[in-house]
Amino acid sequence: MSAPNGRIAIGWLVVEDLTMVMVLVLLPALAEALGGKVPGGAGEHGLVASLALTLVKVAAFGAIVLLVGPRVLPWILRQVARTGSRELFTLAVLALSLGIAFGSAELFGVSFALGAFFAGVVLNESDLSHKAAANSLPLQDAFAVLFFVSVGMLFDPSILWREPLMVAAILAFILVVKALNATAIVLAMGFPLSTATYVAGSIAQIGEFSFILAGLGIGFALLPPEGLSLLLAGSIISITLNGLVFAGRTAITAAALARPGVRTIVEDARAPKFALLVQDLENARIAAEAKAAAHKTMSPEELVAHFPMFSSLTSEQREVVLLHLLPHAAQPGERIIRHGDEADAVFFVSSGEVEVVVAGKHIRLGAGSFFGEMALISGGTRSADVTALDYCKFLKLTRSDFDEILRRYPAIREQVTKMAEQRDEMNRKLAEAQAAGHRS
Ligand code: CMP
Repeated sequence: MSAPNGRIAIGWLVVEDLTMVMVLVLLPALAEALGGKVPGGAGEHGLVASLALTLVKVAAFGAIVLLVGPRVLPWILRQVARTGSRELFTLAVLALSLGIAFGSAELFGVSFALGAFFAGVVLNESDLSHKAAANSLPLQDAFAVLFFVSVGMLFDPSILWREPLMVAAILAFILVVKALNATAIVLAMGFPLSTATYVAGSIAQIGEFSFILAGLGIGFALLPPEGLSLLLAGSIISITLNGLVFAGRTAITAAALARPGVRTIVEDARAPKFALLVQDLENARIAAEAKAAAHKTMSPEELVAHFPMFSSLTSEQREVVLLHLLPHAAQPGERIIRHGDEADAVFFVSSGEVEVVVAGKHIRLGAGSFFGEMALISGGTRSADVTALDYCKFLKLTRSDFDEILRRYPAIREQVTKMAEQRDEMNRKLAEAQAAGHRS
């Protein structure tokens, strides 16, 4: 997954999946023109009209989900997180994603699979949703297993001796036509033969999207029910044979490149183009890593490793705390808190260093410490300026979440109030010393 050729293959698969999304959108509108039957008969409009209607509906649905979703979904998840129940949170994530998928199928007439796709896009948008995604990871495993179980359960082995020629034809299509097609496209784009055959080998199999399409096709009477069995046979056999396909691909590529003339044209002359692509991929990887780091969710163990003050909580309680903490970053010189401002949040420093300025004194706080608690506790305004000294990362707790956490966990309240009192005391002394200094 990190080698350039593998990444091209994954990119290829993503494009295939997006194309499938388009097909899922268009198939209901095109079904009748293709000779199928649409349940409920949407056929009184002409083809162009029903295509246009479908596209408008999908665009409206997409716009609503993408505009409203990123605001509403995190808001709902945050309210649920406030209850402090992890189970309720996971349930809310499930209900929201399935709700969007089902609601869109009912309201907009788009397929359930397409609704689920948009639900995923929206859920991917916010930090809290990343936690939501992390929460549903075990489910992902369960679904991956279910996929293989369902392939097994749907498969009718008798198809192998009832329709051997059909199975062979489908296999030839997947293993040969699809692979040759990919090889030709990659070569036509100016990349080396070794890359082309690698991509071809990687995509010489079919997976779950073909089952969704087949299901839809059968629903519209475009595909006989037998078609699904053939596709399943094609899928199982092509996935099983993939190791062999790769071995074959290596041998064929080596044989072709053993001829110096061929090698110069299809491999060596194309190396610079490949090098450029490798550079692009590397840049994209760096950008993606930076984005992922900003979204990175801490584990309860990491939270305690960073902030020992949470060690008195149980693992479950730490997870609840983690649900409330928002990632925040600052650049060197950035003013994070301004003396005299209203207080809206407390900050836990996970990396970097900040400087607090009180009564002319500069106090440095590093990773593991927190600031911004005094005004929240006293209800007054900020007691000092706080400025980032280098690239800092924080976990931020908003005022209402802070109140909630202190109310819920007395051990944390005790530590935070004690720290605030000590700092208050220190500041009073510093102010007195400063005043004395001025008098003398
Ligand atoms: P707050 O008053 O909300 O905003 C400024 C923050 O600076 C304050 O909370 C404390 O978290 C922090 N702070 C103030 N005085 C000190 C101090 N003497 N030592 C360390 N941190 C301080």
